Amino acid sequence: MTLRILGPRKPIIVGGAPEGEGSLRRTLGWPHLVALGIGAIVGTGIYTLTGVGADRAGPAVILAFAIAGAVCACAALAYAELATMIPASGSAYTYTYSVLGETLGWIVGWSLILEYSVACSAVAVGWSAYLVGWMQAGGVLLPQALLVSPHAGGIVNLPAVLVALTVSGMLMAGTRESATFNIILVVIKLTALAVFAALTLPAFDADNLSPFMPFGFGSTVQGGEPRGVMAAAAIVFFAFYGFDAVATSAEEAKDPGRDLKIGIIGSMLTATTIYMLVALGAIGAISYTVLAESAEPLAFVLRALDHPMAASAVALAAVIALPSVILVMMYGQSRIFFVMSRDGLLPRWASKVSQRTGSPVVVTGVTGVFVALFAGFFTIGDLAELANAGTLLAFISVGACLMILRRTQPDLPRVFNCPQPYVVGALAIAGCTYLLLSLPGMTLVRFIIWNAIGLVIYMVYGRRRSLLRGKLSVANKASPDLR
Ligand code: ALA
Repeated sequence: MTLRILGPRKPIIVGGAPEGEGSLRRTLGWPHLVALGIGAIVGTGIYTLTGVGADRAGPAVILAFAIAGAVCACAALAYAELATMIPASGSAYTYTYSVLGETLGWIVGWSLILEYSVACSAVAVGWSAYLVGWMQAGGVLLPQALLVSPHAGGIVNLPAVLVALTVSGMLMAGTRESATFNIILVVIKLTALAVFAALTLPAFDADNLSPFMPFGFGSTVQGGEPRGVMAAAAIVFFAFYGFDAVATSAEEAKDPGRDLKIGIIGSMLTATTIYMLVALGAIGAISYTVLAESAEPLAFVLRALDHPMAASAVALAAVIALPSVILVMMYGQSRIFFVMSRDGLLPRWASKVSQRTGSPVVVTGVTGVFVALFAGFFTIGDLAELANAGTLLAFISVGACLMILRRTQPDLPRVFNCPQPYVVGALAIAGCTYLLLSLPGMTLVRFIIWNAIGLVIYMVYGRRRSLLRGKLSVANKASPDLR
């Protein structure tokens, strides 16, 4: 009965998938993985959503960053244990399939499409706004109808579409070149944030932090808008994830045990430290009400402090470096589609690896088109909130898998042992659930509809084509006692 509802569980392959047909090349060392992690983590969340967070929480947006960061740190520890124990591509999808069964594995895999693809679309929209603002500041005016999505009075957000397609083309050209290029972009955006912190922290004025929580703590609707520290935490949560993209590349890590651990925890710690400094610098330097008005808050603060050159440089860094976020997230997405198709839940042609580039070209191209379509026609707020919902569900599942495996498979070799796994797992589940419920009601409705569509596809296609189900049914026919 349980097997019927939850579906079969994929065997845990310690050491990853076998080499050969359908496997990816091991080309990535830990510096690549730390860069992949930072490349995915630091992006639109800190560059753009800091202002949205300030609008929802006031100066307590700093607290919102701390809460979202603490929840993500628990999830990152759980990910690090699972990723090094089950170093097969697919991250939360693979862990859930192995621990909680195929049906929940599918739901998590389907939700990860929101985390990876829809988040890419959100970043593409944020990038487009920076590019347009930067070009307009230089006197280059473009037709508005081609710069914003229909909701904002345009036809299509063309820059967002183009950046999504370009990045997917780069990934199709091969992982290694793309990951190395990513390191350069990571250096650019970290330097820009360091300059921001160095220029704003000396201007810190404690008066700007008062009143600290003008809209209270819990997520409520005030004046038709979501308000409160938790409402802000639920959106700035976007700024923290991406470290799990490292786990999706497990099959390409040269030494998964060492490289994944350093990649996940190193990138997460680096980003959290920088965020706290940037958020404190922004909130301490000017009033949150002014900050909340700006669509490019970091450049805005620098201009307000009379640093116009630095403001331009930070804006340019965003234009140059935000595509690295799309690159890493899209990379993670193509690997998840790849594994789901290899498992038979998605069409088999999707997992074909190119002989020349070593990357799954078909699925990467399909992902690029999907990301481009969402980026062209939806708003950044809607996209970021929906991406957060999918990510939070995946993180909840990872917390559960960590604890269940500690109990059911205590003797499996663990390269990285999560400290206090039951406390960390429980905190990840409770924290992510609280953040999920702090999202606007409309986002939750969309999220439920998304998964309902996914479940229909699973029942009609994936469940029937599942390779694992096929193998089990052959085994059951040969020996009914195995059941
Ligand atoms: N964490 C990534 C960003 O902030 C998704 O852009």
